[in-house]
Amino acid sequence: MPQLIDPFARAITYLRVSVTDRCDFRCVYCMAEHMEFLPKKELLTLEELDRLCTTFVELGVQKLRITGGEPLVRKGIMGFFRGMSRHLESGALKELTLTTNGSQLARYAQDLADCGVRRVNISLDTLQSEKFRKITRWGRFEQVMKGIDAAVAAGLDIKINAVALKGVNCDEIHDFVEWCGARGFDLTFIEVMPMGDLGEEDRLDQYYSLRALRRDLEARWTLADTPERTGGPARYVRVAETGGRIGFITPLTHNFCESCNRVRLTCTGQLFMCLGQEDEADLRKVLRERPDDDRPLVDAIRAAIARKPKGHDFDYSRQAVLGQMSRHMSHTGG
Ligand code: GTP
Ligand code: 5AD
Ligand code: SF4
Repeated sequence: MPQLIDPFARAITYLRVSVTDRCDFRCVYCMAEHMEFLPKKELLTLEELDRLCTTFVELGVQKLRITGGEPLVRKGIMGFFRGMSRHLESGALKELTLTTNGSQLARYAQDLADCGVRRVNISLDTLQSEKFRKITRWGRFEQVMKGIDAAVAAGLDIKINAVALKGVNCDEIHDFVEWCGARGFDLTFIEVMPMGDLGEEDRLDQYYSLRALRRDLEARWTLADTPERTGGPARYVRVAETGGRIGFITPLTHNFCESCNRVRLTCTGQLFMCLGQEDEADLRKVLRERPDDDRPLVDAIRAAIARKPKGHDFDYSRQAVLGQMSRHMSHTGG
């Protein structure tokens, strides 16, 4: 089948799939403490998720990243991973992976590796147990550390994702470089994006630009730009002292949308063509109306890709938050 090409000639080869809006943490920049989650009937079933992802693979998607909420709290999710591993075996899919908070990895790391997962991205914004509790509200640092150990034991490559939060974790950046460097983990810093109306949380107060953060890092480490890529938006440097790799995801200071290769499927089957725009396509409706015929689904996917916008409009530069999205990150899976 012909590939998915958007109006700006970008090939869409990367699908991010949120399999649940639920999470066992309540990170301050991601969720309100008291969230209302979706009723089960709204969610795509695991069979529907399989059908949708398989269709995308047939349309040229080569990289599938499972997200949430926390993907590993979805009941039966390992069955879904096992199903997707057939696309790795056939060679159609090049990478099957996930972004997780690490809380369930002690239980699932080996199973994931057995399904052909080679690499996991783990969200970890601090290396201090007490602070971890403050940022995640409900998370337990020690549990995540055990999860990370299990992932290492299962032979998975690890990338640590840290959202740069001013006054919260910017004092730990050198610790992160050292800690990840010593363990052979990639490390990625992310600029906080204006997602979700979090009431008392103010984005401008939290925001720390990665341009500044890189300067801070360079006071202690020797960084060399590298063209290496992992298929996502991060731009990487090598740290001479540790041999490790640091990525920067800079939606605010450097817009990387021109090379965007991805779309996002929510756990309710809406396809978002951009993380920072409202437009979406309701694939669940098509899926449920036509259970035995994939053609309307393929048509709906193509029609959606044909509307993919050029990029997001996030902007803090006028001392105000522009381009804000009311939906939470847990809805689209980051
Ligand atoms: P790799 O496969 O390791 O390159 O992963 P990735 O960076 O694509 O995935 P990950 O889930 O680790 O994403 C890290 C952060 O990048 C998340 O907070 C995402 O929200 C953000 N991100 C990924 N893609 C986009 C995008 O298209 N636009 C914006 N604004 N942010 C993105
Ligand atoms: N801005 C930037 N990154 C965020 N994440 C969640 N909310 C935000 C936000 N508002 C990150 C998580 C995780 C990834 C999937 O998205 O920390 O690493
Ligand atoms: Fe859960 Fe991730 Fe959101 Fe934290 S950032 S509440 S771990 S979905």
